[in-house]
Amino acid sequence: MAERGNFGSRLGIILATAGSAVGLGNVWRFPYMTGHNGGAAFILIYLGCILMLGIPGMVSEFIVGRHSQANAYRAYATLTKGKGWGLVGILGVITSTIILGFYAVVAGWCLQYLGASVFGELKGDTGYVQQYFQTFSGDPFRPALLGVVFILITHFIIVRGVQKGIERTSKLLMPLLFILLLIIVIASCSLPNAAKGIEFLLRPDFSKVSSSVFLEALGQAFFSLSLGTACLCTYASYFTKQTRLLASATQIAVLDFLIALLAGLMIFPAAFSVGVEPDSGPSLIFITLPNVFQQAFAFMPALGYVISIMFYALLVFAAQTSTISMHEIGTAFFHEELKIKRSSAAWIETVACSLIAIFCSLSVGNPDIQLLGKPLMDFCDLLTAQYMLPVGALLTSIFVGWFVSKTLVREEFTNWDTTAKSFFKVYLFCVRFVVPVCIFLILMHQFGVI
Ligand code: TRP
Repeated sequence: MAERGNFGSRLGIILATAGSAVGLGNVWRFPYMTGHNGGAAFILIYLGCILMLGIPGMVSEFIVGRHSQANAYRAYATLTKGKGWGLVGILGVITSTIILGFYAVVAGWCLQYLGASVFGELKGDTGYVQQYFQTFSGDPFRPALLGVVFILITHFIIVRGVQKGIERTSKLLMPLLFILLLIIVIASCSLPNAAKGIEFLLRPDFSKVSSSVFLEALGQAFFSLSLGTACLCTYASYFTKQTRLLASATQIAVLDFLIALLAGLMIFPAAFSVGVEPDSGPSLIFITLPNVFQQAFAFMPALGYVISIMFYALLVFAAQTSTISMHEIGTAFFHEELKIKRSSAAWIETVACSLIAIFCSLSVGNPDIQLLGKPLMDFCDLLTAQYMLPVGALLTSIFVGWFVSKTLVREEFTNWDTTAKSFFKVYLFCVRFVVPVCIFLILMHQFGVI
């Protein structure tokens, strides 16, 4: 087999991994979760989850991946004598394929809305925009087709390899995304009454905090950091020996949080400036926002037109670098374990997640396509974000904290620098106790045991 790929530079590593983290989770999921769960109070809990559970969790996946330089299954299977841990890697491959399935549907909607903004199809009153979304997302063909198109674009980036495909795309799209985001934030925050939206994001209202808010914050933190599916482990297998794992995890987590916050600063000030309550759920950016942009920039329709195009382009870019990372987990796994060509491996992943995407998409228009009483699309979201990701992260931290040799973990953590004064003790304490206990308690609550 040809030599394994590697990321080519430090910047490439940060941008590709941040590209995985920054996605629809930040721009689509975070704002409606925040709107729904009481604004700033939710954000504080979310931040706590990132610092206490997210960063140690990321470092653990990095350690497993970088040490083994292999796909998710082999990484977990070879780090200790117990081969059974390989199942955690396989769980990761399954989880990420399901996520990619429903994620691609939303990414397909973004493509549609990008086109619709360019052709000025989103103009109209509130009723019209709502109707537009319902007609479009309920259609059996078009959204499913666009979801598959999105997966195919991802496929063709992936088959170009780690440096020429993943790294190059991230280096192009991430800076673009950041620039677009900043422009829209500035436009949104300079609207009249924008202060109310900023206040909503920054002033905590603890009366809305219930136990489910903790759960949602945890699920959101894992989803947003791409944690719990061996995604970071797979990317870390392309890191170099010089990559500082804790520093990289911290930089990526901070960047991811800032971008989620900026997404809030892009959406809420505009929404409040036209008097729209931002708690409308997943359809926020497809039903509420097109109208918000129109009304807010009614004094200068050309600006509204451009902002709308920039917004949906931003969503497409954000989604693209994330779907790449989900796809890569399965691709690397099939490529190395079945010993087939990378392009054939990519096709297996593409077909699997396209099938999931098609059924998820159909379930939006036809809620009879259900699993356990929920439309398939919502079921996949809930199952992965609130169960499978926490379980994956829990198993990883038990694995790294208790089963992998401590010397190995220390060497990877400090990059073999025995003189390094590092946070190793703090990290080890988190991975051994804090992370497993917190996730375990939260899962028990989820299952109704406590
Ligand atoms: N983190 C991405 C987002 O916020 C989604 C994502 C990419 C992901 N790779 C993942 C989520 C792996 C879970 C697991 O949109």
